[in-house]
Amino acid sequence: MSGNTVRSVTACRVCGSERWQKVLSFGNVPLANAFLEAGDTEALAREQAYPLEVISCRECRLLSLTAVVDPQVLYRTYSYVTSDSETMARHMRTVVRLCGEQVELAEGDLVVELGSNTGEQLMAFREAGARVLGVDPARNLAEIAEQRGVPTVPEYFDSACAESIVAEHGRASVILGRHVFAHIDDVADVLAGVHALLAPDGLFTIEVPYAVDLLDGLAFDTVYHEHLSYFLISTLDTLFARHGLRTVDVERLPVHGGSVLVSAGPADGPHPTGERVRELMAHERAAGFLSDARYEDFAARVQKTCADLSHLVRDLAADGHRIAGYGASAKGTTLLNICGLGLGELEFCTDTTPQKQGRLTPGTHLPVLAPGDVGEQPDYYLLLAWNYAEEIMRKESAFLEAGGGFIVPVPEPSVRTRAVSRR
Ligand code: TYD
Ligand code: ZN
Repeated sequence: MSGNTVRSVTACRVCGSERWQKVLSFGNVPLANAFLEAGDTEALAREQAYPLEVISCRECRLLSLTAVVDPQVLYRTYSYVTSDSETMARHMRTVVRLCGEQVELAEGDLVVELGSNTGEQLMAFREAGARVLGVDPARNLAEIAEQRGVPTVPEYFDSACAESIVAEHGRASVILGRHVFAHIDDVADVLAGVHALLAPDGLFTIEVPYAVDLLDGLAFDTVYHEHLSYFLISTLDTLFARHGLRTVDVERLPVHGGSVLVSAGPADGPHPTGERVRELMAHERAAGFLSDARYEDFAARVQKTCADLSHLVRDLAADGHRIAGYGASAKGTTLLNICGLGLGELEFCTDTTPQKQGRLTPGTHLPVLAPGDVGEQPDYYLLLAWNYAEEIMRKESAFLEAGGGFIVPVPEPSVRTRAVSRR
């Protein structure tokens, strides 16, 4: 399987340039959310891995993967469900508040969410009085959202889909895309759809991992096939301008290792470009994010972290310690596969998501166990859901009190125990 399943990137999806700098090359890695059925030997034999490489556009500084896996393969049934965590619930309320600060949402105004998953975020908007509509191609998730009373179009959002939404529901005051825009290959067609669906005074608001945080925080495990793009504000600004939109505001957020909530309005609309947008763009230039050297330095540091983590985990395992993964996150798939950690070092991976429990992690085939099924706790957990570190440390205080430790993989591998935090 290759030809029609994977597209190799040639021209930059933002600016069209073909002048690329090679940044990271992880070899072939399985799809991050392609969990396997334990007994399904055929699926195990058929498991695919795809090139995982990051390049940087020398014109607009888009960070892109080289391989685009067919979205039909990636998303038709999707085991990623929005985490049922207090951190996320709080964050979703923040998003509602931030959107409300920028667009005055009147009762009955339409809020459309792209990649609406199980409808969690839209429920928070509905509580605030908005009329809501989700769009998500994962039929299994769209069904869950419908059951919760969040109407959901089970399709990919594109210009055609936008037209039919306008015809049926009218224009949207807010179009929201949380952690979905970086997953889109044909951004031009999606932005054409956004332009058609957005009210003249409306805002298109996206939340994407911030390339500055990816590099500063060495969050290299957030690189997986679903994330086709990693954006600077400068890059998004170039992109929006090419599609008749103007960058309006940006807010840095601590979710998923560092993200930005960026809003844009029609270029001829009422919302001006805010000071924070200009400040971050100036910072990106001053801190070197527009030149090759910054990316060379990043690549070297990623290699070192990977090697250090491998050694740390292997040494602990060789000393007879029992180790397991904590949180079968998509990041975890990248981390385990590129650092060469698997059943030789880890016994299992625990995760609270029912859809993942009882299955095997992609590539490494660790059994995913519900927290209640773990039995005797291991000596160490490798924290694969490090973006929830504080919440998890609080929740697992008994494990820590009993002498257990968490191996935190990034930005530098470290071990956290009850008493000490040592490298
Ligand atoms: P998530 O943050 O959604 O990131 P990714 O995009 O990398 O998949 O993944 C977190 C995973 O960790 C998710 O599968 C749920 C799981 N999890 C736990 O098992 N226990 C917890 O306490 C939390 C907060 C998450
Ligand atoms: Zn470019």
